[in-house]
Amino acid sequence: MTSTSELAGRVAVVTGGGSGLGAASARALGAAGATVVVADLDADAAASVADVVVADGGAASSVGVDVADAAACAALMATAVERHGGLHIVHNSAGVAWPGRDGFTGDMDAAVWDQVIGINLSGTFYCCRSAMAHLAASGGGSIINTASSMAHLPLGMLDAYAASKGGVAMLTRSMASGAGRVGVRVNAISPGYVDTPMNALIWQTPQLHDAFAQGHATGLQTAEEIAEVVVFLASDASRSFTGAVLTCDRGWTAFKRPEALG
Ligand SMILES: NC(=O)c1ccc[n+]([C@@H]2O[C@H](COP(=O)([O-])OP(=O)(O)OC[C@H]3O[C@@H](n4cnc5c(N)ncnc54)[C@H](O)[C@@H]3O)[C@@H](O)[C@H]2O)c1
Repeated sequence: MTSTSELAGRVAVVTGGGSGLGAASARALGAAGATVVVADLDADAAASVADVVVADGGAASSVGVDVADAAACAALMATAVERHGGLHIVHNSAGVAWPGRDGFTGDMDAAVWDQVIGINLSGTFYCCRSAMAHLAASGGGSIINTASSMAHLPLGMLDAYAASKGGVAMLTRSMASGAGRVGVRVNAISPGYVDTPMNALIWQTPQLHDAFAQGHATGLQTAEEIAEVVVFLASDASRSFTGAVLTCDRGWTAFKRPEALG
């Protein structure tokens, strides 16, 4: 992993850092010089990713957290400050997609709706709320939320997930005004379909894999390239960006997908 020092002296919290996009983000932020707190419901996975960041030559620690628990999110941000002396960057990547359980609203168990919204949307809100005063006290900072192409173009049959990500996108835009007054920028990323455990079904099914690959203008993307967008949004190079929801989806939402995808 290429190492730079553009984020030297900054402390970053990455939720959902134990897997997928969050793990790639933790590694990239660490390689860019930030001290990374890897946070995940799976505490062992978070610790393993923190070990990788350190093995890459960076600095990291880990925390087990359930982002659907408001008090746990507050404790996470306080722990980052206590351990590392400040807080400058938060990437909210924790999230769930439950095809099959989540689906068409007419058939969905209300408990599934509550859980998906509770983790994806309320979890993002809790982490932003808990981080804000620490970011301000550290001289300002950058929050990167994780929306989705589904905030812009739902697949269908994942109603709770799409609603949660639409909520993350609009929370990000609305929050930018108040956050700006305390020197905090807040943006969201909307990736396309990336090979992570969340999307295992797509990658294990050749027809789905091929159809999804065709739906992206320049082919499928990796977690590492999404992490480069996160590092950009964390860095001063993105100072003009706040309240932005960046589609970084290789064109998935830019044009009509093949009929095979329904
Ligand atoms: N993979 C994609 O194609 C894709 C596309 C667009 C958006 N996203 C979003 O990116 C984010 C990361 O997804 P991913 O693909 O890396 O999935 P992933 O399943 O690989 O990782 C998600 C991580 O979040 C953690 N997590 C789940 N519930 C949690 C909770 N309550 N508290 C704390 N941590 C929790 C999991 O343990 C896991 O480590 C999600 O918000 C997802 O919706 C993913």
